[in-house]
Amino acid sequence: MATVEQQQENPLVKGLERLPVHPTTLTIFGATGDLAQRKLLPALYNLAHEGALPERFNLIGVSRADHPHEHYRTLAREAIEKYSRTKPDPKVLDGLLEHVRYVPGVFDDSSVYDTLDKIAAEFDEEAGMTFNRVFYLSTAPAFFPVIVGQLGEHGLDRLAGVEVRVVIEKPFGTTLEEARQLNRDVLEVLEERQVFRIDHYLGKETVQNMLAFRFANGMFEPLWNRNFIDYVQITAAEDMGIGTRAGYYDSAGALRDLVQNHMLQLLTLLCMEPPVSFSADEVRDEKVKVLHSIPTPTPDDVPNMAVRAQYASGFEAGEDVNGYLEEDGVPPESTTETYAALRLEVDNWRWAGVPFYLRTGKRLARKVTEIAVTLKPVPHLAFTQDGSVGVQPNQLILTMQPNEGVSLSLGAKIPGTRMRIRPVNMEFLYGTAFLSQSPEAYERLIMDAMRGDATLFTRDDEVEAQWRVCDPIIKAWQEMPGPLPQYEAGSQGPEEAARLLGEGQRWRAI
Ligand code: BG6
Repeated sequence: MATVEQQQENPLVKGLERLPVHPTTLTIFGATGDLAQRKLLPALYNLAHEGALPERFNLIGVSRADHPHEHYRTLAREAIEKYSRTKPDPKVLDGLLEHVRYVPGVFDDSSVYDTLDKIAAEFDEEAGMTFNRVFYLSTAPAFFPVIVGQLGEHGLDRLAGVEVRVVIEKPFGTTLEEARQLNRDVLEVLEERQVFRIDHYLGKETVQNMLAFRFANGMFEPLWNRNFIDYVQITAAEDMGIGTRAGYYDSAGALRDLVQNHMLQLLTLLCMEPPVSFSADEVRDEKVKVLHSIPTPTPDDVPNMAVRAQYASGFEAGEDVNGYLEEDGVPPESTTETYAALRLEVDNWRWAGVPFYLRTGKRLARKVTEIAVTLKPVPHLAFTQDGSVGVQPNQLILTMQPNEGVSLSLGAKIPGTRMRIRPVNMEFLYGTAFLSQSPEAYERLIMDAMRGDATLFTRDDEVEAQWRVCDPIIKAWQEMPGPLPQYEAGSQGPEEAARLLGEGQRWRAI
């Protein structure tokens, strides 16, 4: 618990238990950008509101626009008021903003780093102690090596007696080669333990719940292998289109945007062996082993294991919506995929022969992220002669969003004089079991970075292993001529996706 003196000194801590986080000065590069406004600043506010921020905390925003400190504080206040998941308490918000400074400038300008150094040193001096430094790179990816290089040149990459950490947003490269180069650039200046590559899916409560589900329950482990599991489908469907992000999205596409990072994270958490402990490296070692077990696709494999498509016009929430090629900023001949489906195999003792189907897309019927594990059918159906209907293999569904929870389908007898069977669901819903609101992914991740816990961040070899799987598919697609298959906006996706599935298998309805 916070002491009385601490509570009087800092209004943010009132009545709350303090986590052991060293006082920190956090610098956000790209401080006026979309991510900072929608996610990072509101996350910091909510951490302050919960008393989770370090007792002493300073924030420095760096961005191109030439604002005085006060203007940035107003901008931050407005962003927090607009996007925070809880209604801001003016006292807590004022307390947070009091320790905010702003540095205008471009990221390759050396004077920006001199100013940063000076402001951070002033904070230290005022407090009579040295703060940890966290640099958060929320910029266009081209600036990641530039900023890290400048931090190194200005000696900001290390500081005696305290920790210096760097958080790097996605995308971490757009090809395997770029990811390798970026790792080299970053690790020339920093040690791996200082680097926190963000994948916000890992900050989601329900994604972490997969670890609890698998490793805190004895009943699933005996089934969790090729002997009992028939196939797995991982879906990350979105109903929205690309909005105003054509510039980024058209050069990325669905595979880079969601599969290379978020979906492969879900796959590795699902498939990994139990780690010896939940330390960052033990967990990531096991995840990397899963990625290494996925064979590298050859150009010949790609047509049989991957499907891409683009949304055509259609309906979303009752409104007419444009097709991808008509979206503002998208070239009319673009061959960027807004939908990707893959069939992957994890060739190890536990999983050999089990197909893993991944699919993601914009402008599908609804937003849903889930993992559906289908068990093998029972070996013998004694009921058949008695007119049984609807005996289906058991399915275990882990839903990440929107209705977070776990459901298990079981065959049950339909009441009546005959032996008729149909599936029923046994359900656990996060929202009903735990009445508190889940924190946003960024709250957890910012805290972990400040604490120095890298378990929920992507390691250098992990990000390269992810690219090793995706890169050959992207390359093969680049060689194939357009136009791409289309699917109607608001639909289940392209019919072509069905060809990836084995006999008797079907995609779950979105
Ligand atoms: C981001 C992608 O990483 O994840 C977006 O760039 C996508 O295109 C988003 O919409 C999905 O995240 P969430 O948390 O809404 O599932």
